[in-house]
Amino acid sequence: MKVLVTGGAGYIASHTDLELLNAGYEVVVVDNLSNSCIEAVRRVEKLAGKKISFYEADILDKEALREIFKKEKADAVMHFAGLKAVGESCAIPLKYFKNNISGTVTLLEVMSEMNVKMLVFSSSATVYGNPSKVPVTEDFPLYAINPYGRTKLIIEDMLRDLYASDNSWNVALLRYFNPIGAHESGEIGEDPNGIPNNLVPYIAKVAAGVLKEIRVFGNDYDTPDGTGIRDYIHVVDLAIGHIKALEKLNENPGIVTYNLGTGIGYSVMEVIRSYEKACGKELPYVVTDRRPGDYAISYADPSKAYKEMGWKAVRGIDKMCEDSYRWQSKNPNGYKS
Ligand code: NAD
Ligand code: WQD
Repeated sequence: MKVLVTGGAGYIASHTDLELLNAGYEVVVVDNLSNSCIEAVRRVEKLAGKKISFYEADILDKEALREIFKKEKADAVMHFAGLKAVGESCAIPLKYFKNNISGTVTLLEVMSEMNVKMLVFSSSATVYGNPSKVPVTEDFPLYAINPYGRTKLIIEDMLRDLYASDNSWNVALLRYFNPIGAHESGEIGEDPNGIPNNLVPYIAKVAAGVLKEIRVFGNDYDTPDGTGIRDYIHVVDLAIGHIKALEKLNENPGIVTYNLGTGIGYSVMEVIRSYEKACGKELPYVVTDRRPGDYAISYADPSKAYKEMGWKAVRGIDKMCEDSYRWQSKNPNGYKS
């Protein structure tokens, strides 16, 4: 079976490409390299000992997509391509609406023309907004708290409408919690441009001596140590979740929605402590004001994914930090190292 992976050179998709190849799937990557490097794809090929068909193309380019679909005759699509920086989405929402929403419409039009109707979509726990209680189940109310989140919500709604109009579509909406870590080889990992926005990539740069100190965004939340709690999930567990979703769609067609998280929440301070164990040194930090738009606590109830597709995350927080640190140490400047 051949899977076309949009955004396939990116962080989560590169780990998924590798799991797909290891599981015997053929992989076609379409990426405009706006937030990634071709080197990620090359390293995946090396780790798997198999080739990937790579196309540098934008999902907004309908003609290019048509040509790729005609040539490759993929059976299914995993759709990761998208912009994901929450702060940037507040500053330039139109860029996010065009890239994420229009890009997805273009992709769906071409899939429809080519009669490829199996899709695994990268959604996000951001569709739960600021959840009113935890753990979060898939039937919680959905709402956006920033333009990035709105793109995920609108795409989810579009896919539900599309399926309602034509139930020969076969769709998995995967709501990721907080993906971190790297493949245990240390050969592929997260390589953000500039100063990282997210906690663990930032800690990694402090551990590597590139940044001076971790900024803890508020210690006055209503949590045991006052810092924000999130459900961090190892990127390899997440990648394997995509293979399970594809198997589920093949065996039992329809539209499905799953939380992909561990079900365990860790505070910012607990993550720092775990990372200190991984890198074997104390990490300097300073407590600052809360970051606008942040909330106290979110973690998944991932039991539906286990019940319906036999998936659960097995890698714990210490392993996530160890693998993150290995990737950071082996590649101090990311793929440009
Ligand atoms: P990433 O930026 O590493 O990967 C996205 C990839 O898509 C990049 O390689 C980028 O070059 C490509 N891309 C973007 N726009 C494109 C376009 N118009 N045409 C072709 N390629 C394009 O990000 P990631 O963290 O791997 O995230 C992958 C997906 O998962 C995204 O849709 C993101 O919104 C979603 N997601 C990420 C997280 C997270 O915390 N990392 C959490 C939930 C959901
Ligand atoms: C985690 C915790 C911060 C940075 C974001 C998106 C979400 C999803 C995943 C895509 C929070 C604290 C952070 C720092 C800190 N992405 N923090 N110092 O905000 O839970 O989720 O990524 O779908 O949509 O919003 O992740 O890693 O930024 O923050 O103290 O330098 O760490 O306040 O409690 P977040 P994060």
